[in-house]
Amino acid sequence: MLENNPVYYHPKQKKWHIFSYEHVMSVLADYMNFPQLSRPEEKAISPLETSLIGLNPPNHRQMRSLVSKAFTPKAIQDLQPRIREIARELLDRAVNKNEMDIVKEFAYPLPVIVIAEMLGIPKEDRDQFKQWSDDIVNSAELGSFDMNDEKAGFGDKAKRLAKQLRIVQKFRKAEKELGAYFKKIFEERRKQPKDDLISQLIKAEVDGRQLTEFELLGFCSLLLVAGNETTTNLLGNIIFSLNQFPETAAHLRNHPEDMRKAIEEVLRYRSMVRSLERVAGNDIEVGGQLIKKGQTVIVWLGAANQDPAKFPNPEMLDIHRDNLQHAAFGHGVHFCLGAPLARLEADIAMQELFAYFSDIRLKPDVEYRLNALDGIENLPITYT
Ligand code: HEM
Repeated sequence: MLENNPVYYHPKQKKWHIFSYEHVMSVLADYMNFPQLSRPEEKAISPLETSLIGLNPPNHRQMRSLVSKAFTPKAIQDLQPRIREIARELLDRAVNKNEMDIVKEFAYPLPVIVIAEMLGIPKEDRDQFKQWSDDIVNSAELGSFDMNDEKAGFGDKAKRLAKQLRIVQKFRKAEKELGAYFKKIFEERRKQPKDDLISQLIKAEVDGRQLTEFELLGFCSLLLVAGNETTTNLLGNIIFSLNQFPETAAHLRNHPEDMRKAIEEVLRYRSMVRSLERVAGNDIEVGGQLIKKGQTVIVWLGAANQDPAKFPNPEMLDIHRDNLQHAAFGHGVHFCLGAPLARLEADIAMQELFAYFSDIRLKPDVEYRLNALDGIENLPITYT
């Protein structure tokens, strides 16, 4: 696809698919011609729809400048000691064993605890909070169902429909319960502010007005959806990729200063967010093809990051690549707000993992399951 049809129209889906690095980046940079499909609050089914990620400039700019106060380099750097402590607490539980599932026991709880603490979620509610977060994130799997798959028989389609329905029901239930839970926390923080993100968001002002409850809810839910499974998958993918390239793992043990480069290369090599969706705001040409106003455009970040025109030998994990402007965190106005946090979490997690265990190996003959965002769901390792 990347080579022969870098900009491709799928007639059955009635959607455009964009694969090449050049065109993926140009579409994401052009928010005037390729805005997010955005609905006003009164028409939105879920607060997530009107959250930062669903807004277009100028509303997006105002909202982003407000919430980005919590994500300044200094604010993120200040989280460093606590992230390290959490990583150590999780690894301490594994020191007396010689095997663990590194995704379930480390990569998965770490970002959830970090976000829960940033928001100010009490410790005793964390497991429930994690479950809601999972049920919401798992709805991303819906995007991968293709009911028009010609090869699928009637039975297959019926099974898929039933599965879709189960996911939607879980999503709705989780969203409702999480909404009620957040509202209770908002009320508590209004009465008695604390030193947490929710208290900051409640007092913050955009354009001389405070955020509505719907907007507050949207942003808090967005952090869960955008920040948890993605970071878990980044960690899982780093461990998986270093197992594939043991010489890189050995290099990093001797040169921990190169860890940040390795993290960026894994972001490129095994991108966590497969694709993003936009809608054409005007008739516009991309790569010699005419995209009509109103048509849906899917940009494939994973494909862009494997484009040999931008990344020679893309199938190699090469931590010394020059000018690694990968697409894993998106591009343009919606560039990932949490990128510095994800990078810091991954850096600390890997430093601690290397410090705790000297010989990390994936258990042989394990059948890996992929989760809704193409991350690895289970990664049993042995270590000494
Ligand atoms: C946006 C990827 C971690 C919060 C995005 C976008 C991508 C992305 C591709 C762009 C979406 C678009 O253009 O439609 C990732 C990856 C991560 C990660 C690969 C981890 C490896 C995080 C974390 C947080 C976070 C840890 C916060 C705690 C956000 C937010 C946005 C966003 C709030 C919306 C920004 C906006 O619309 O202005 N992320 N993300 N992300 N991400 Fe991340």
